[in-house]
Amino acid sequence: MTIKKAMVIGSGQMGSGIAQVLAQSDIEVILNDIRQEFVEKGFAKIKKQVERLVEKEKITASDKDTILGNISLSTDYQDAKDVDIVIEAATENKKIKLEIFRQLDEITKPEAILASNTSSLSITSIAAVTQRPEQVVGMHFFNPVPVMKLVEIVSGLRTSDETRKVIADLAETMKKVSIDVKDSPAFVVNRILMSMIGEAMFTVYEGIATVEEVDEAMRLGANMPMGPLQLADFVGLDVCLAVFEVIYQGFGDSKYRICPLLRQYVEAGWLGKKTGRGFYNYE
Ligand code: 3HC
Repeated sequence: MTIKKAMVIGSGQMGSGIAQVLAQSDIEVILNDIRQEFVEKGFAKIKKQVERLVEKEKITASDKDTILGNISLSTDYQDAKDVDIVIEAATENKKIKLEIFRQLDEITKPEAILASNTSSLSITSIAAVTQRPEQVVGMHFFNPVPVMKLVEIVSGLRTSDETRKVIADLAETMKKVSIDVKDSPAFVVNRILMSMIGEAMFTVYEGIATVEEVDEAMRLGANMPMGPLQLADFVGLDVCLAVFEVIYQGFGDSKYRICPLLRQYVEAGWLGKKTGRGFYNYE
């Protein structure tokens, strides 16, 4: 099966990035969200990124028109009737994701693949709410999607080998490098990355060093492109907390304890760059 038409659910930073790369790969894509203003905002972001590619002479103005022409906007799951794949990139909330999969299982054609960009949730449990668990798979991208090369392909207990292969081909078409991962809390990258980000938070919480010092230390001493706390702000502290919860509950190991500072920031609505305040102040 070759993917020709896709629906991306969620037009936030991940969803719009995924839609952009699909459109750049000549795949027709429907960008879906719950409100028209959300999809329009997502599309505006894609347009800006694609226009920058023209400015940088990476693509022509005619390529830009083709890419943007590959994208349509939707607020109705019924538009997914004839897609080959749905890539869900909605809020990292299990209840919401399960409801989306339940509904899409009823709407999409029987051979369609239902993929989730979940950062940490069990693909096996998402698959279990559908009548096609063999065609449910994790396709986990990294932020910013147009730049980061990796895709984790997460096979749930019942995901078929054929589905995994279609996703591997799609990742290649999208010029990504994929790795196969077993279904386990937070998979590979986020399990390791979030553990490190968690230690950075505790280092600040315990007064060992300041936010700026921790980030500078990791940039200059560990060659990270951005420090762990800046990265946490960039990913979103709510997303980080959701991933931490899954890792902590999934393994039940105190080494994955959650820094109280993170909980407090999320409670305060300091969710990182997107809200103007996180470990840094962006206002
Ligand atoms: N979208 C598209 N392109 C972007 C971008 C964005 N949001 N941000 C930067 N870029 C592009 C720039 O246009 C530039 O392209 P060019 O080389 O063709 O000119 C290139 O990336 C480099 O950008 P800059 O020179 O402006 O800045 P940096 O060199 O600092 O790179 C960065 C920016 C790529 C974001 C870099 O800081 C980085 O790699 N940071 C770490 C990102 C990371 O670790 N992501 C994973 C997060 S975890 C995750 O996503 C999992 C999830 O489940 C939580």
